[in-house]
Amino acid sequence: MTRTSGAHVKIITGEDRKGPSGAATPGGPEGSRRDTPAEPGTLTAVRHGDKTQPALPRPQHVRPVPLAELARAADADLTAAASPRTTDGPGGPSEEGGEAGGPAATGITHDSRAVRPGDIYAALPGARFHGADFVAQAAFLGAAAVLTDPAGTERAAATGLPVLTVPDPRAVMGQLAVTVYGDPGAAMLRIGITGTSGKTTTAYLVDGALRAAAPDGGQTGLIGTVETRIGDERIKSERTTPEATDLQALFAVMREHKVTSLAMEVSSHALVLGRVDGCVFDIAVYTNLSPEHLDFHPDMEDYFRAKAQLFTPARSRTGVVNIDDQWGQRLVREAQVPLTTYSAEGHPDADWRASGVEAGPMGSTFTAHGPDGVVVRAQAPLPGEFNVANTLAAIAALATAGADPQQAADGIARVPGVPGRLERVDAGQPYLAVVDYAHKPDAVESVLHAVRKITDGRVHAVLGCGGDRDPHKRTAMGAALARLSDTAVLTSDNPRSEDPLAILAAMLTGASQVPSHDRGTVLVEEDRAAAIAAAVARAEPGDTVVVAGKGHEQGQDIAGVIRNFDDRTELRAAIERAGHASATPSPGTDQDTA
Ligand SMILES: Nc1ncnc2c1ncn2[C@@H]1O[C@H](COP(=O)(O)OP(=O)(O)OP(=O)(O)O)[C@@H](O)[C@H]1O
Ligand SMILES: [Mg+2]
Repeated sequence: MTRTSGAHVKIITGEDRKGPSGAATPGGPEGSRRDTPAEPGTLTAVRHGDKTQPALPRPQHVRPVPLAELARAADADLTAAASPRTTDGPGGPSEEGGEAGGPAATGITHDSRAVRPGDIYAALPGARFHGADFVAQAAFLGAAAVLTDPAGTERAAATGLPVLTVPDPRAVMGQLAVTVYGDPGAAMLRIGITGTSGKTTTAYLVDGALRAAAPDGGQTGLIGTVETRIGDERIKSERTTPEATDLQALFAVMREHKVTSLAMEVSSHALVLGRVDGCVFDIAVYTNLSPEHLDFHPDMEDYFRAKAQLFTPARSRTGVVNIDDQWGQRLVREAQVPLTTYSAEGHPDADWRASGVEAGPMGSTFTAHGPDGVVVRAQAPLPGEFNVANTLAAIAALATAGADPQQAADGIARVPGVPGRLERVDAGQPYLAVVDYAHKPDAVESVLHAVRKITDGRVHAVLGCGGDRDPHKRTAMGAALARLSDTAVLTSDNPRSEDPLAILAAMLTGASQVPSHDRGTVLVEEDRAAAIAAAVARAEPGDTVVVAGKGHEQGQDIAGVIRNFDDRTELRAAIERAGHASATPSPGTDQDTA
């Protein structure tokens, strides 16, 4: 590996950006496990105060379901409406009646602000609020009934609405949503992907192949960190896996849009918090497990247990598991559904394995060997060895679902890229420049190893760590960056309510633990745009600039204020300002990955 001389640390502090910390947001408790940090995801849906509630779509036609039927399904105590309701709210009293008469529901939501006439409002206990604090708003908007726990019953009943009381409303909310919308996802081919890294990428690869193979008039769906797609309609995501009420409504919308197959990310939060309750995936895919979300899971065992839930009959029919991963090997022993295994490292015991991997700056080619002697020529449309694993996972999942493996591989090869995942920025500069979403130690290592393999010169990498998220990974990320780059520029990610310099100090501690002969030049630049410019300023022909951590995100949250910030735009602007842009294509652009 090429190195610039020794340990060099330069600290540039940015302007003092003290500001109010992010305000707590009423309306929907974010999780009852504990004060759960949100999953990483796009910032476009991060709320400013109470203003930017992302509106997820709802189906247009729903058969009203009698509350009595729902109470039976949830084993709930149903308290009838105290008196005929009068409201000046926009929703007005629900006019819906079940087929047998009596009160009925046509929707369900856990967010009081999103209530529509005829909805059940699920008032859940949360770390900071109880959903029952917002029943008046739900009633005003036309809720048909409230689902809550004994702690919320009295407040819910005070609105005059019927109340369904259960000990743990979150535990029944998914199944109730399934019942309200008539199990809308049941007829679709649903492929759910879990694992610490690779969910978004693999979901896009699966989606690409499904789109290529969709029969005339057939539509595909995609649900994940970056976006939700219903056919060609796109909605920015608030979180990797929506809450059960939103998820079932989305399935219902997809059903109305004739979606026949769906690729979806399933986070560990989703599994623990019941977001996929009532959803049985045809295929469940496991990519890998590495330390992450340890502010949510007490230890790796708990994290593994959460992921393993997906491989039980309540949640999937069959699984596809990576046996290059040690937790994957354990999953093979413990899963309760039939499994297909894969190994990008070519493990002879795997049902699907890769051989003859040729890595290039645009992607890798390889041969995939499947069951019964099947041989497929495959192409990972993104660089990096881990994308061979993601591609093999997608091929194995599609083949398990009954697709022709070569057609699946061809569809994947034509995927034009995945937003913010080793996404190239090309302004004609004579070096490679990529933006990547690596924001955990393992992913940082993987991406830096991957670019090292395709770089003749030096690697200049920019990385920050998010505030108000797992603080334990910061030293490891700082260390990985210092150890694996020639220039490591430590900067801010989304500091949120934390002091950016305190986060940088933890990263710098990690960097300083790498022996000086083993680390690159370390720069500290709090301002992310300036950090990107610093990396670009060092780039020479044959080098690679990697801007990691924020990928597809389009905003930066500093002290609760979100300003527009897109690494791809900043990187391009820095390249152009540096005068590196030219008409000469950068390395690899003449290759065609299609
Ligand atoms: N199979 C893999 N193994 C290791 N690292 C990976 C793998 N796939 C992707 N990565 C790295 O992890 C980053 C995130 O990838 P991706 O978004 O596909 O994963 P994810 O599981 O959806 O993550 P998140 O939970 O943060 O949304 C990538 O930008 C890349 O650096
Ligand atoms: Mg993701």
